Amino acid sequence: MKNEIIRNISIIVAIAENNAIGKDNRLLWHLSEDLKRFKRITSGHSLIMGRNTYLSLPGGALPNRKNIVISNIRNESFPDCLMAYSIDESLKLSEKEPECFVIGGGMIYRQFLPLAARLYLTRVHHTFEADTYFPEIDFSEWIELDSEYCNADNRNEFAHTFTIYKKKII
Ligand SMILES: NC(=O)c1ccc[n+]([C@@H]2O[C@H](COP(=O)([O-])OP(=O)(O)OC[C@H]3O[C@@H](n4cnc5c(N)ncnc54)[C@H](OP(=O)(O)O)[C@@H]3O)[C@@H](O)[C@H]2O)c1
Repeated sequence: MKNEIIRNISIIVAIAENNAIGKDNRLLWHLSEDLKRFKRITSGHSLIMGRNTYLSLPGGALPNRKNIVISNIRNESFPDCLMAYSIDESLKLSEKEPECFVIGGGMIYRQFLPLAARLYLTRVHHTFEADTYFPEIDFSEWIELDSEYCNADNRNEFAHTFTIYKKKII
């Protein structure tokens, strides 16, 4: 696999202040606004996810999106999903799409961060004990396009900031 930026690959992720993203194959928070934003941004597009993230989805494949699941287990398949057995294979399945969202988890984000052209980041303003973390982001590689701070309220447990970045092309 070539380690170069792939124009149609975007990462979408919610990350705590200590880079935590999950524990026991679950998310660490409930943020209604973040779920709504995720649905709005990704609907109609392709999604790439690791097998653990697929298994964490309460209703299986996400509707109105092409769900691509990466795994090493070749004799397994999931309803309404395309299976890919490498990063390259997942890229082949999504190469004709205008924008394809990498939706986790930790193992998959780590491999796609060098390739992604865009990053839709929700920063959750709290620290959590976790077993899965997002890799360190070098913000000097990214240009901020848009940012919005949201307070905690009765539907959003923690204050959070939505920011969209695009990768600098050097
Ligand atoms: N905060 C957020 O925005 C967010 C988003 C998504 C997920 N999460 C959290 O992240 C956690 C899950 O992350 P995770 O790191 O455990 O798992 P993951 O990245 O979802 O999936 C890992 C699995 O993907 C497959 N895989 C990864 N790289 C591969 C490659 N190059 N070739 C073939 N297969 C490959 C392997 O599956 P096999 O074992 O089948 O080989 C591997 O075990 C959960 O807690 C979840 O809630 C958080």
